[in-house]
Amino acid sequence: MLSVTDLKNMKDSGEKITMVTAYDYPSAKQAEHAGIDMILVGDSLGMVVLGYESTVEVTVDDMIHHAKAVNRGAPDTLTVVDMPFMSYHISQEDSLRNAKRIFQETSAQSLKVEGASGDIPELIKRLTDAGIPVIAHLGLTPQTVNVLGGFKVQGRDEATAQKLLDDARKVADHGAAALVLECVPTELTNIITNAIDIPTIGIGAGVDCDGQVLVYHDILKYGVDRLPKFVKSYTDLNEKGTEALRNYHSDVKQETFPSADHSFFMKNKQNLPEQD
Ligand code: KIV
Ligand code: NA
Repeated sequence: MLSVTDLKNMKDSGEKITMVTAYDYPSAKQAEHAGIDMILVGDSLGMVVLGYESTVEVTVDDMIHHAKAVNRGAPDTLTVVDMPFMSYHISQEDSLRNAKRIFQETSAQSLKVEGASGDIPELIKRLTDAGIPVIAHLGLTPQTVNVLGGFKVQGRDEATAQKLLDDARKVADHGAAALVLECVPTELTNIITNAIDIPTIGIGAGVDCDGQVLVYHDILKYGVDRLPKFVKSYTDLNEKGTEALRNYHSDVKQETFPSADHSFFMKNKQNLPEQD
C-alpha cells in the first residue's frame, strides 16, 4: 500500500497521482483492482449516494459507516476520509475527538479537511503531530458553498488568487500531507504546485497538479444527471444499467427468464411428491 510519504516522492519524481472517490464495498474493490493510487471517501457521499441536496447533511456516523465498507473492499489502497460539515469547527477538542473516531473506527490512513481559516491550520498540525496525516482542500470548498455564493471557480482575481496561494503555503507549513485543489484556474494551480513541496491533487484545476481526483459516479455516469465541465466520463452506466434492468423486466414478463440454463431440476423424478 502507498503511504502519504510515497505521494511526496511521486511529486518529486513527476509521477502523477490518481485518486477516485468510493463510498462502498464494490466501488472500493473496483478502484483497488483498477490500480488507483488512493481512494477518497468523500462527503460527496451525501449527494451521489444518499441523495441529499448538499454535503452539509452528512454526519460523522455516515462517514464512518461508508468508510468501513470501503476499507473492506480496498484493504490495500491508501484511503482518505473526509471530515464532514461542522465536525471540525465547534472547538479544537470536538474536532480532535471526531478525527480520532473517524481515524480509529475506519482504519483509514488519512483524513481530509476543507479550508485554511480560523483554527484549521492548527488542527492540521495537531492531528499530524498525533500521527493522523491530513489532506487539505482549497479552492471551491463545497462545505462552505453557502458562504462562497455557489459552485464557482475560485481565485480568478488578483486578491483571491493571492489568498489561495497564501492558504496553500499555510496548510503545507502546518504539515498537510497533500492538497486538493478544486475549481482553480490552471495558471494558478501551476504556481501553487511549484510553490509548495506537498502534492497537489486537482479536480477542475487543470493538468499541472501532481495528481487528479474525480468522483466515482461521475467517471461512470452512474446516478448523476448533469456533470460539471471538469468531469470526463469513461462510460455511461445510467444508460447501460437502465437498459439491463429493462431487459430483465421484459424477459420476466415474456417468460424468457429464467431459462433451463438458470433453473434446477430433480436428479430423479421419482422423488417428486404425487400431485392430487
Ligand atoms: O467529497 C468529495 O468528493 C471531494 C472531492 C471532490 C475532492 O471532496
Ligand atoms: Na468532500
